[in-house]
Amino acid sequence: AFEIDRQLSPESVHVFRDEASGLDAVIALHSTALGPAAGGCRLWQYASGEDAAADACRLAEGMSYKNALAGLPLGGGKAVLRRPEGTYDRRKLFAAFGQAVRELGGRYVTAEDVGTSVADMETVRDETRHVAGLPARGAAPGGDPSPWTARGVFLAMQAAAARRLDRGLGECTVAIQGVGHVGSALAGMLHAAGAKLIVADMDAAAVARVSVATGAQTASLSGILTANADIFAPCALGGVLNHASIARLSAKVVCGAANNQLAEPEDGTRLADRGVLYAPDYVVNAGGIINVAAEYLGWSQAEAAARVEATPARLLAVLDQARARGVASNVAADQLARAAIAAGGMARRAA
Ligand code: NAI
Repeated sequence: AFEIDRQLSPESVHVFRDEASGLDAVIALHSTALGPAAGGCRLWQYASGEDAAADACRLAEGMSYKNALAGLPLGGGKAVLRRPEGTYDRRKLFAAFGQAVRELGGRYVTAEDVGTSVADMETVRDETRHVAGLPARGAAPGGDPSPWTARGVFLAMQAAAARRLDRGLGECTVAIQGVGHVGSALAGMLHAAGAKLIVADMDAAAVARVSVATGAQTASLSGILTANADIFAPCALGGVLNHASIARLSAKVVCGAANNQLAEPEDGTRLADRGVLYAPDYVVNAGGIINVAAEYLGWSQAEAAARVEATPARLLAVLDQARARGVASNVAADQLARAAIAAGGMARRAA
């Protein structure tokens, strides 16, 4: 058994196993107070079922907060699939997963996440309509959410630089850790805005592409944290900001796309104590889920875009709350998200 504290406690956790396809899935619904629990499907190797369940619960809680603060009529959930050992039929696996999503009757809406693709979601779509992240049809929202995520991070970074550095991005140097889907798109936007760039990625070809396109300098994997930059943009993995790395960070603003950037919540306070403005990850990286939500809910592309453009306003509201309450920005974001979930849940119950 794994232990979950009260804050993490999800509304329900569903386990689906199917020997024929190799499906071994956990779907955690953290909250449906604001609407169907939405969050991607991760395919990953886990040492145990408990590890998979714990990860699903932690990720589902993050989705609740991200969706609530983005003002979406969606709760938070996440699916975690343990990668089958040996060879397996990917279509069968995702068809079985689609049936599991269907069984939840619309209480959970899935999409891509680490280890899953648009093609996988198309397989899921054959079994259930509670899926998004499918190829865009005509002018309707859909397709790769990464450019929308990058756009939201870019706009938030502009607001953060103005507040902390009193400067436009054209007068800033930005260190980007990870130039994959989001990081490379962000690099393009920053370059167009006149920012100087320093990038690092273990994928040498990705680094080369971005350097050629933007004139970015490159740094080593460990050097990117201490690179002489005004802004650090984590766009690779989570947990990069911890006791040790924060002490070495030279940037005064942290604003990037990676989920779960803080190794532990106290790292938010450590950043604030060092005078670093931390733009909470799920506040600034919601552009992708906004576009995915628009696809599922049938909103227009213009409506989705307007909500992505409001990312800096949401960041500033969080920073104002942090200042007013005398707490770190990550704490303020969690407070605002929980309040939004509580208020939305009450409003829905009263309706
Ligand atoms: P991606 O897989 O396309 O890119 C990640 C890049 O980081 C890869 O190029 C990889 O080689 C690199 N990388 C991995 N470890 C690294 C390290 N230690 N140092 C430097 N580079 C490293 O992923 P994507 O889609 O660009 O997402 C980036 C981050 O943003 C992830 O944490 C993801 O969860 C998060 N995110 C992505 C969204 C999206 O719309 N794609 C939405 C919200 C969050």
